[in-house]
Amino acid sequence: MNTTWWKEGIVYQIYPRSYKDTTGNGLGDLDGIIEKLDYIQSLGVTMLWICPVYQSPNDDNGYDISDYRKISSDFGGDPAFDRLLAAMKKRGLKLIMDLVVNHSSDEHYWFQEAKKSKDNPYHDYYIWQGNDPQQLPNNWQSVFNGSVWQWNAATEEYYLHLYTQKQPDLNWENPQVRQEVYGIVDYWLNKGVDGFRMDVISLISKRSSFSDVPATMPFIDVMEKVYANGPRVHEFLKEMHEEVLSKHDIVTVGEGPGVNLEHGPRYVSDKEKELNMVFHFDHLTIDFGPEGKYDPVPMDFIRFKAIFRQWDQALAKDGWNSIFLGNHDFSRIVSRFGNDKEHRRTSAKLLATVLMTLRGTPYVYQGDEIGMTNVAHKSIELYDDVETRNAWKAAEAAGKDMEEFLKAVHWQSRDNARTPMQWSAADNAGFTSGKPWIPVNDNYRAINVEAAENDPNSILHYYRALIAFRKAHPTLIYGNFEDLLPSHPQLYAYKRWDQGATFLVVHNFGDQPVDWEDLPEGRQCRFGNYSQQAANSLAPWESRIYQLD
Ligand code: GLC
Repeated sequence: MNTTWWKEGIVYQIYPRSYKDTTGNGLGDLDGIIEKLDYIQSLGVTMLWICPVYQSPNDDNGYDISDYRKISSDFGGDPAFDRLLAAMKKRGLKLIMDLVVNHSSDEHYWFQEAKKSKDNPYHDYYIWQGNDPQQLPNNWQSVFNGSVWQWNAATEEYYLHLYTQKQPDLNWENPQVRQEVYGIVDYWLNKGVDGFRMDVISLISKRSSFSDVPATMPFIDVMEKVYANGPRVHEFLKEMHEEVLSKHDIVTVGEGPGVNLEHGPRYVSDKEKELNMVFHFDHLTIDFGPEGKYDPVPMDFIRFKAIFRQWDQALAKDGWNSIFLGNHDFSRIVSRFGNDKEHRRTSAKLLATVLMTLRGTPYVYQGDEIGMTNVAHKSIELYDDVETRNAWKAAEAAGKDMEEFLKAVHWQSRDNARTPMQWSAADNAGFTSGKPWIPVNDNYRAINVEAAENDPNSILHYYRALIAFRKAHPTLIYGNFEDLLPSHPQLYAYKRWDQGATFLVVHNFGDQPVDWEDLPEGRQCRFGNYSQQAANSLAPWESRIYQLD
């Protein structure tokens, strides 16, 4: 196995809008990140992935870009970016930018031109179908509800948008579009950034027959079989690698909706020369019910373990995994996979231990290091996210029980992860001196960085110690992985080993203690989230790392 810095490193993901505001306008900004670099570095993380900060009308909070070479003035503009990059370089921290090139904003110059006429030089930068305003080209549904087709009166045809209508999909079949993208990538690489997280990159190659999807096909399958993994996706990624990426020592991680075990290995194989890692969503869609994310079902824990085991196996010899349990698109990890009530602290530590002991590069999402939780607003008006709001409208139109639906929103809304970072017990959690763009979670007086700093037993201090432990033990990075109890309903136990050492990691994913006879007797428990440890049993949400050799 090849060893390299991005396998050994740890990523901290920042949602800049919600991290730290230095101007009082209620929006986080890049100077806010600079202000917090001491804190970030104190965690032991080595790379920052920042969500999009480019110029954007913010229909989808920056995932709709109107100028790929400009940093939005909301975040401090280009000078603030240059300051951030310089400050990070001084500290040896790597910067991963978000690259959103499956679609642009409809306010991008390309689209403004493209929609004018069929013979405009930019027209073919986007994807057009149909010619009858009464007849949609097909039955495809947008990820954010409603048809993927939007009528353009000037050219009397529809354009494709897999996300909102303000996010028209780029036409990667057009070589000029690909050259534009490579130019953008080159621009940021020449500025000195260290890599990219590529937004919904599995969707860039379309199935141009545009045939209807079977009405009964679950959306997860539509994603995999119809929208993602299109016929030329690997060709495009190889081309991008060859033309720009391969010229720099960088890291790439492709966001891969619809990428499962069948497709995943090809995207990240060392031989294929496409991407270094993907974010698959097998474990994050695990609680989606028949009607999708707002129709949640209980998590199948055995399947959860199987997903990690199978992905580990699939990439054991060729490729590399990303290890993450949440991000800005999902609920808070302690609320979703742990217990954010009576076991918040312990279960947040357990989840940290999972992140740091599986084989792959760990991604820590801002606020998880202090155990931030979901919010539960009483009214939909307090939610900002376009996906949540659209889902709400669609549910209303379908005559759903909206009280029940609000519960699903509490459980699944992307805004759960987007509430401002809780820095202190001061007003607005110390995030801003103004009015935050999105409400702060009420629990900030108890859950915040300042309180965690002052508490030796905090989740924050645990993260720091655990990250240091991982970095000190290459076995936890590169070592083999074996799941020891694949069918246990509550325990997750695995071995990590190589020539240098053998570790046994065991977690109790539940509110009840569990007996386990095979806990190693007389062996040193090197790390754990309880100070007292029973000999043959694990306490609720207990994690232990034993060193066997
Ligand atoms: C990705 C982003 C998400 C965004 C979507 C469309 O899934 O993570 O936030 O809404 O792509 O760009």
